[in-house]
Amino acid sequence: MAGVPERLAQLLRSRGIHWAGPIEHLEVASSTNDELKLRCRAGAPEWSVLLADRQTHGRGRQGRPWASPSGNLYLSLLLRPTVSGAAWGVLPLAAGLAVLEAVSGEGVRAELKWPNDVLARGRKLAGILVEATSGLDGLESAVVGVGVNVAVVPAEIASGATSLAAETGCPGDAVGLAAAVLTRLSVCYHALARDGPTAILPRWREGAAGWFGRPVEVQAAGRVLRGLMRGIDERGALLVEEPSGHMLHIFSGEAREVRLSEP
Ligand code: BTN
Repeated sequence: MAGVPERLAQLLRSRGIHWAGPIEHLEVASSTNDELKLRCRAGAPEWSVLLADRQTHGRGRQGRPWASPSGNLYLSLLLRPTVSGAAWGVLPLAAGLAVLEAVSGEGVRAELKWPNDVLARGRKLAGILVEATSGLDGLESAVVGVGVNVAVVPAEIASGATSLAAETGCPGDAVGLAAAVLTRLSVCYHALARDGPTAILPRWREGAAGWFGRPVEVQAAGRVLRGLMRGIDERGALLVEEPSGHMLHIFSGEAREVRLSEP
């Protein structure tokens, strides 16, 4: 029987993509991002992919753990970008858009939450962790880590999360989804490199349209900022209008919806 890398490469070929980098599969990884960063330092080429059946130290954004039992998708992709600085800043949003498009192709009605959470019925379905390294000449590489709850909603986050299986009623196939995610990542990344942020931002805004105008709270740089979500600017920063009318441009942080009556 074909192994996971062969099956994934075959699925990509059936989508018209001859994957340009090596594909590696581990039954257990500490974190696919951490393991791919090691391979990056050792000279791994762009488009290297690492996926694992489960992770022992899966990591999320803002230093949070990412519960990683068997049955879900844990995938990391190495990019060595030649895109401009402005386009580079939009990479995390482009990755979110790619995953949104991949799960939508599986029949899930999903939406984006800034910067790149993928939600279904308000519950988290997928998360993305983009980790960049820079050298003397600027940005050198990025590891794009994607975690999707395919078959299992981890017990640790059960109340706020969902899975592909729960949304579609089908068991879900992590390798099949990996092919869809890599296809869309490749398409979005090439569009970003060729045409800059305008290739991504309008579609990102469509995917997050349900949030526009809603009251949000953002934890950013140790502060809690509140206001109405007004969209994103041309650099991918979150726009939040404070009660005074002042518009905040927030480049990193964590957004959540709040009820206006909440203290
Ligand atoms: C988040 O929403 O906080 C981001 C979660 C990112 C999880 C993925 S799973 C594959 C890759 N390896 C990791 O350790 N993290 C990312």
